[in-house]
This record gives sequence, structure tokens and C-alpha cells, in this order.
Amino acid sequence: MAEKQGYRHFMLKEIYEQKQAIQETLLGRLDRDTYSVSFEHFNFEEKYLKNINRIFLVACGTAYHACLIGKFLLEDHLKIPCEVDIGSEFRYRNPPIDRDTLLIAISQSGETADTLAALREAKKKGAKTAAICNVLGSTITREVDGVVYTHAGPEIGVASTKAFTSQLTALYLITLNMGILRESIDLAEAKNFTKELARIPLMVKNILDKEIKNIKEISHKYSKKTDFLYLGRNINYPIALEGALKLKEISYIHAEGYPAGEMKHGPIALIDEDLPVVVIANKSAVYEKILSNIEEVKARDGKVIAIATEGDQKIKELADDVIYVPETLDIFTPILNTIPLQLISYYIARNLGCDIDQPRNLAKSVTVE
Ligand code: M6R
Repeated sequence: MAEKQGYRHFMLKEIYEQKQAIQETLLGRLDRDTYSVSFEHFNFEEKYLKNINRIFLVACGTAYHACLIGKFLLEDHLKIPCEVDIGSEFRYRNPPIDRDTLLIAISQSGETADTLAALREAKKKGAKTAAICNVLGSTITREVDGVVYTHAGPEIGVASTKAFTSQLTALYLITLNMGILRESIDLAEAKNFTKELARIPLMVKNILDKEIKNIKEISHKYSKKTDFLYLGRNINYPIALEGALKLKEISYIHAEGYPAGEMKHGPIALIDEDLPVVVIANKSAVYEKILSNIEEVKARDGKVIAIATEGDQKIKELADDVIYVPETLDIFTPILNTIPLQLISYYIARNLGCDIDQPRNLAKSVTVE
């Protein structure tokens, strides 16, 4: 109990530590005066960073979802083609790799066997390698050319929470660092990016302060459901996958995450009054499209739980339940949207009496292939 500092589970404690974890990951790196980023262990030669022609992002589980978001960030801001691979798949598909390829492995533990095997394969083929990792001196960090440590602190709960939002934070830092160097991000954009990124930890705290009661009630309402669908679009599509994974892992409820536009190509067949659909619906470039998805769900009697932007009244008329997150730039919404989804999983699992910190069949670190 002392280790949990009064929280009932490590997972809940770690969800609450996210403001601090993100702050620590930014600390000493994001310079709010010059709108730039510096790293201690990610010091590749400038010439190499300018010449990179392809980036692979490789990981497993939750860290893989961070990779999917990384692709949106890096392609959009660096204009470098970027591929995302699940660790256990990478080595069997033989993608073209050369000296100007960078592979970034993302891992909380730095010990995941599938991610490590992919990393070794890329090195063998001549790529330079980097890692985003939470554990100092872990195997992956010892084998790469450069590391950005997430300073999230030890993560004990098997379900990854603060490590994930810290991985996203590290990806934002890499994007800004490389974008400035490659001149694909100009000063005005760097300023905007820096200012907003620096505000994210407080926004995380705001969600935890303001929405907790609402989230507990919503979780209670839907605890007995046996299937959930999670929908998101664009940079928040991976967050739909992450929300579904979190629910599966700790509550053993069947859940699927989908890009919302794919709903009509299959999952729509599942929708009836017994299917809660969690929809990520921030005010963004794809807002109108998401509203149509919500209407499609409602037309089939599905129940909609929307994650929406503070102040959005329209969504209240459409969705059955709404959880608000603060307004920010589209690119930073994934961190904010993650918080309510973690909490929904946590409280549903708690209502069901599940072993939240040690879910059945799962290990914190998977060191076998
Ligand atoms: O330590 P890693 O980040 O490499 O672990 C990868 C996955 O095993 C991990 O994210 C797993 O999916 C978690 N249980 C997710 O909550």
C-alpha cells in the first residue's frame, strides 16, 4: 500500500503520474526560449540526419500504437517516408534498407524480444538505429546508436499507461528536433509547437481533475457489456486501437479498435443496442466526418461514448455520454484522448473485480520471441 501511495492499484497511480512523467520527458530538452530541442544520447551527425531517406518505427503492443502516431508526426513534419512494423513481423518481410535508413525501436522495458530481434535485423542490413525507451541501460538501449529516454519512472502495472504518453512526448521532441535541423519546420511553427507542447502536462492534470467523476459513472453504466468498439480517425485512429487494447488486457472484455472510416466496411454489422462505441471526436480537421460516424452508430441503436473538445455542445445532442478534454493542436490530441480511455478501462476492470495490475496470461516484459 505504501508503494502505491494510497492508490488502490499501480495502474491508477501511474495514470495519475502522467502529468509528471510528460514533464520529466520534456525537462532539459524542450527550450521554451529558443523553441528548439536538445538531447543527451540522440546525437547523430547532422549530415546523416539531413540525408535520412526512410524511417522505420518498430515495437510491440502499446508501444506499437505510439509508432503509428509517430508515422503521422514524422511524415507530416519531416517529409520522410515512414513505415511502421510490429516487431515480430519486421524480420520476415525483408524490406529494403540502406545506410540512410533510420530504425527507431520503441519499448518501455527495452527488453522485448521481438523488438530487439527487429532491431538486430535492421543493423545487420546497414541501418542506423535509435530507441525511445524508459529503462536506462536495458538491452535495446545498449545496442542502438542513439536513445531518447522517457523519464516516466518505473511502470509496475502490466498495462502500459504513463510509458505510452511519455513515448508520444519523446516522438514530439524528435519531430521538432529533426524538423528544425532539416528545415521542414520554420521558426513560426517551432514556436507554436513548443508553446503548445509545454502546456500538455497541465491539460492532462485538468482532465484528471475535472472528468474523473463523470468517467467513473460512465464506466459503471457500461461495465456489464461484453463487447466494445473504439473508433478514431487520422492521428487518433491509433488511440482507438490503444483504448481497445487497454480494455481487453485488464477487463477481459472483447474490444476492437478501428479507423472510423472503415466502420462501413465491416464492423457496422456488429452495431445494436448492446454495443457501446467509444468515439474520439475532438474538434479537428476530421470532426464533421466523425459526427457522421456517430450518426451511423445511433441510427442502428448503438450507444456512443464520445471523447470531445471542451465547449462542444453539439456532441451532447448526438452522443449518449461525453467526456471532455481541453482544446489543443490536432497533433497533441492523442495524449489527451488517451487519459479518459485508460480510466474507462481501469474503472470497468475494477467494477468487475479483475486483477488489474497482474492480468491473467500477461507479463510486464515479454522476453521470448
Ligand atoms: O516493454 P515494451 O514497451 O517493449 O512492451 C511492449 C508490449 O509488450 C507492451 O506494450 C504490452 O502490450 C502492454 N501490456 C500494453 O499495455
